[in-house]
Amino acid sequence: MKIIQLSDLHLTTPGSMLHGRDPLQQFQAAVADINTHHRDAALVVISGDLSDDGSAASYEALATTLAELQIPWRVTLGNHDDREAFLREFPTLADEYGFIQNVTDLGDHRVILLDSLQGGDVAGNLCSTRLHWLETQLRQAQGKAVLLFLHHPPMPIGLPSLDDVRLAPDAAEALHQCCLRYATVRHIAAGHVHRPASGNWRGMTFNTVRGTNHKSALYTRF
Ligand SMILES: [Fe+2]
Repeated sequence: MKIIQLSDLHLTTPGSMLHGRDPLQQFQAAVADINTHHRDAALVVISGDLSDDGSAASYEALATTLAELQIPWRVTLGNHDDREAFLREFPTLADEYGFIQNVTDLGDHRVILLDSLQGGDVAGNLCSTRLHWLETQLRQAQGKAVLLFLHHPPMPIGLPSLDDVRLAPDAAEALHQCCLRYATVRHIAAGHVHRPASGNWRGMTFNTVRGTNHKSALYTRF
């Protein structure tokens, strides 16, 4: 089974540049490549920072481009996103509590996207509502191997500027305890760091991916 992860699109008002690149053009190129070369994928997951500025124009551009994608897709939000602005463009994509998170069963796997956006903060967090939602999805996984996607990595990966703004340590601990209770989470995939990294976090494999527009500096603190 092939699942494609994209992340950190950082879309802006169409036509405007970001760090010397056109983020919409970059995203459109990724969608075109998937449509041409990866039609066998079961799902495309986009792990947050869909927009750079939370603008209505950026979410309109996201919707227009996703309409071209010929593979089923799921998205969640990152710290650059604006939940209310996103929902004005995608009003059906909230869960029952208003968060942008969802579950997709693919054969013997369950794909869970968790919303780690904490409004006004670069770092991520998970409130008790979201942890309760996750616990319910894990309980109902019924033996399926869970692949968990969220924007903020719960673990440090060795990039100080981003490790300082990862998922809040308390939330990461609660997430880990939740995963331990059900032992069905096989892998955690995150965005946020704009760099490919992989490893093992307390017995669970993880990865992060590059963004479609720009990379993070390796040694610069914000
Ligand atoms: Fe980002």
